[in-house]
Amino acid sequence: MCGIIGYVGEQSAQPRLVAGLQKLEYRGYDSAGIALVDDALSVYKQVGLVGELDLPADSPQTCGIGHTRWSTHGKPTDANAHPHTDCTGDVAVVHNGIVGNYDDLRAELPGHEFRSETDTEVVAHLVEEELTRTDDLREAVAAVVDRIEGSYALGVVAAGYDGIVAARRNSPLVVGHGSDGNFIASDVTPLLEHTRSVSYLEDGDVAHITREGVSVWHDGDPVERTVKTIEWDADAAEKGGYEHYMLKEIHEQPQALRQAIAGRIDPLEERVDLDLSLSASFLDDVDEIQLVACGTSYHACLYGKQLLETLADVRATVEFASEYTVGSGRDPERTLVVGVSQSGETADTLRALRMARRTGIRTLGVTNTVGSTVARECDDALYIQAGPEIGVAATKTFASQVVTLALFALSVADSRGELDPAVGAQLLDDLQALPGAVQTILDREDEVAAVADAYAGGEAFFFIGRRFATPVALEGALKLKEISYDHAEGFPAGELKHGPLALVTEGTPVLAVLTDGARPEETHNNVKEVQSRGAPVIAIASESGREGDYEVGFGVPELGLLEPLVANVYLQLFAYCVADTKERPIDRPRNLAKSVTVE
Ligand code: M6R
Repeated sequence: MCGIIGYVGEQSAQPRLVAGLQKLEYRGYDSAGIALVDDALSVYKQVGLVGELDLPADSPQTCGIGHTRWSTHGKPTDANAHPHTDCTGDVAVVHNGIVGNYDDLRAELPGHEFRSETDTEVVAHLVEEELTRTDDLREAVAAVVDRIEGSYALGVVAAGYDGIVAARRNSPLVVGHGSDGNFIASDVTPLLEHTRSVSYLEDGDVAHITREGVSVWHDGDPVERTVKTIEWDADAAEKGGYEHYMLKEIHEQPQALRQAIAGRIDPLEERVDLDLSLSASFLDDVDEIQLVACGTSYHACLYGKQLLETLADVRATVEFASEYTVGSGRDPERTLVVGVSQSGETADTLRALRMARRTGIRTLGVTNTVGSTVARECDDALYIQAGPEIGVAATKTFASQVVTLALFALSVADSRGELDPAVGAQLLDDLQALPGAVQTILDREDEVAAVADAYAGGEAFFFIGRRFATPVALEGALKLKEISYDHAEGFPAGELKHGPLALVTEGTPVLAVLTDGARPEETHNNVKEVQSRGAPVIAIASESGREGDYEVGFGVPELGLLEPLVANVYLQLFAYCVADTKERPIDRPRNLAKSVTVE
């Protein structure tokens, strides 16, 4: 996730771009830059915060674009900072999203000089090519976005061309209509001090923003986008209108999930390409994949282990990073350690990875943070591409970690020649349908809130599931306990009768995941066991099975092994709503930190 801004109007653009970018820094802050344009183009960009940009004392240009970056393709360096320019230095581009097919597009641009490792730069060169065919920047950008696979919110300016051309697909972009000029921005936060009149571009729109007005095209035809008035205050705007970052991030999951798979699935060959240096022969020979992590990332590993074993027929183990030892009897040449960490800075996970490396074991870091210690120290890094997560409770990054591990499992299975083509094709379809399925749950937030309100007084809460739903039960309990401070425990459903059942009473709601991938028929027996002790059951079942004899039943769209991951969204909303009724400080729960950098 990155932040983009653009202004064209009667005032100097530079101070407006800088102030706007500072409001967008929560979206990413590893580097920043602006481009100012009139008959010539001037670009200022560098690693660091917006406030550290080396800018002229004042500048006459009244049009420009700016960017604050959260790295996905390419490390945080001056060269990788946006805006990116073409060979002539006349075109500048800012981008939020991922150009999935940038490698292919780059190969179609022989003779162009690329100066960065980013996916975005290809857009500047494509616009340069198009401007040899048309002198209309909007037409040029429209032709370019037709060739882009993946997600984008784009702002493009060119020397001698009036205004900004903007385009979006699957990345947010809002247009601000001001009295002394018009804006584009990733969200309304930077616009509120200038205007409360905004319009939202839709997927596939290309807009031309000038000081006089805004015109929008879709599929080559002019269209109107309604101008709305924003009522939020500045604090609410930063959180996208949500009360807490956690809720915003729960709602960002469809977008995060699209980003996790962007550019990684070859639709024609129905294959996964993760661009790792791990060779197919190493993966073919590997005896064991050890997954190490803490907290929510540990739960994602539990899901990943089952995917690896199911798809790739490889021994996979999961260990708490804080408990990890290399163990005896392992051949370092045939072992892979995968460290999963949202922040990439968790001390326990780093310790485990370093321990593995010291014995000659290859390491793969799965992280959200480009340039983090995990990414730098591992032999390979695989990014989950979820964008910054600010709430202490991990939500969207759990979903993105599971999806990234699913892609990894498919790739390992392929390398080992173990992938059943029908199973692989089904999972690829399900991965692509996942964002839509998650959205259907998010649309039911009010129903979850009503249930949370009814059951928030529980003495304790138990979460049960089997197979792929066991990590989700553990994760549901962790979410609830960390933000509501209620006693919550997650169990494999079959374990209940071996002890925890003694805790179950009519005052302890049980949240049961009964979806596909979770052996619902067997868990149904455990549901009966707790109901006969008086406990109310909130069941999350496949759509076809939710009409069971439960106190509450929520449905999940058909999605095979990914259904428990969709069920998890109900549990996130439940935890959030319970904590909200108790007025807890949801984004900063007591005693916890977002990144735990001590052992
Ligand atoms: O940054 P990491 O993924 O390594 O963090 C691991 C845990 O500290 C983290 O998942 C923690 O459990 C979250 N607060 C859970 O919501």
